[in-house]
Amino acid sequence: MRTTQAAIEVDGLRQGYGDFEAVRGISFTVREGELFALLGTNGAGKTTTMEVLEGFTKARGGQVRVLGLDPHRQRRELRPRVGIMLQEGGFLGDLTVAETIAMWRGMAADVGRRPMTDALALVGLEHRAGTRVRQLSGGQKRRLDLALAVLARPEVLFLDEPTTGMDPEARRDTWKVIQDLKAEGVTVLLTTHYLEEAERLADHLAIMHEGVVHTHGSVETVVAAAGDQVAFRLPISPEALRARTGDGLPFLAGAAPAAVVAGEVTRVTYTLPATSSPDGAHAALRPLMAWAEKCELPLERLEIRRGTLEDVFLRVVGDAR
Ligand SMILES: Nc1ncnc2c1ncn2[C@@H]1O[C@H](COP(=O)(O)OP(=O)(O)OP(=O)(O)O)[C@@H](O)[C@H]1O
Ligand SMILES: [Mg+2]
Repeated sequence: MRTTQAAIEVDGLRQGYGDFEAVRGISFTVREGELFALLGTNGAGKTTTMEVLEGFTKARGGQVRVLGLDPHRQRRELRPRVGIMLQEGGFLGDLTVAETIAMWRGMAADVGRRPMTDALALVGLEHRAGTRVRQLSGGQKRRLDLALAVLARPEVLFLDEPTTGMDPEARRDTWKVIQDLKAEGVTVLLTTHYLEEAERLADHLAIMHEGVVHTHGSVETVVAAAGDQVAFRLPISPEALRARTGDGLPFLAGAAPAAVVAGEVTRVTYTLPATSSPDGAHAALRPLMAWAEKCELPLERLEIRRGTLEDVFLRVVGDAR
C-alpha cells in the first residue's frame, strides 16, 4: 500500500537529439516530499531527463507525470507549482542581484511568493544585493539561481547540479537550504556529481550511464551493496610471501585479495561482499588474523573502511562500460 502519492513519475522515458537516443527507456518514481538524486556519468542523460520533466521538451517515448500532470501539454498549469534551477542559468549581467530578484518576483503569482529580503537571506546574498550579476563569482551565481527557483514556493523543485562551483562552506549552506525546503514538504529532483551530497540529502537515487538507469533504490540499500573494504600492508615482497606461506593470502568471506607491490612492501585490499549483518567485517577478519598468526606476519596499518556511494558508482559505471 502506498502511503504517499507520486510527485514525479517516469515510465519508460525515451528522448534524443536527431538520430541520437540520449535517454533509453528509464523509469523511476519520486514520492511527495522526497528528495531523489539522479546520478551518472557526463552525458548520461540527466539534464535531458530533467528538461522533459520541466516541460521544455516533449518525450519521444514512455510516460512522464509531474504532480499528476503532463509537463509538456499542461505546462501552463504546472509552471507556477514547479521551481527550476538549470545546469546553466542565464542571467542579465547588467542587472543587480536585487533587480534580478525583483524581476522574477514580478513574474511570480502574488500568493506565497517570498519577500526580497527572505530570498536574499535564504542563500546568504544579502551583502551582494547591489552587485551586478556579472560581477558575482560562479558559486554566488548558483546561489542566486537557487533563490530564483524557490521564489514562488514551488511544490516540486528541479535542481540540476545546484552546488557546482561552490566552495565547501557555501555547499554546506546550500545543503541546509535544500534540507529546510524538504522539511517544508517540497519534493526535490536533484542531479549532482558530488556523491557525498547525494548520500547526505537523498532518500532515493538512481545511477545512469549512457541513457540507462543501472542501479536505483534507497541510499541505504545502494550504499550497503558497496561492501566493506579491508586494507593493510605486509612488510614483505610477494615472492618472499609465497616462499613463506605457500598458498599466499586467504579469501575473506569469499572475497579474493588484491595485492599491489610497492618496493619491499605488499599492499593488500579486500572488498567484502555486501552483507546485512552488522558484524560482517568482524567475522570476515577471523581467517585473516589466523593466517597472520600462522605466518608470523604483522598486518601493518590495518584498516576497515565502510563502502561508500562512490565505490558503488565506480563499480556500476565500470561494469556498464
Ligand atoms: N542539444 C543537444 N543536441 C545534441 N546532443 C545533445 C544535446 N544536448 C545533449 N546532447 C547529448 O545527449 C547526451 C546526454 O546529455 P545530457 O546533457 O542529458 O547529459 P548529463 O547526464 O546531464 O551530463 P552532465 O553530467 O555532463 O551534465 C550527451 O551525449 C550529449 O552530448
Ligand atoms: Mg547535465
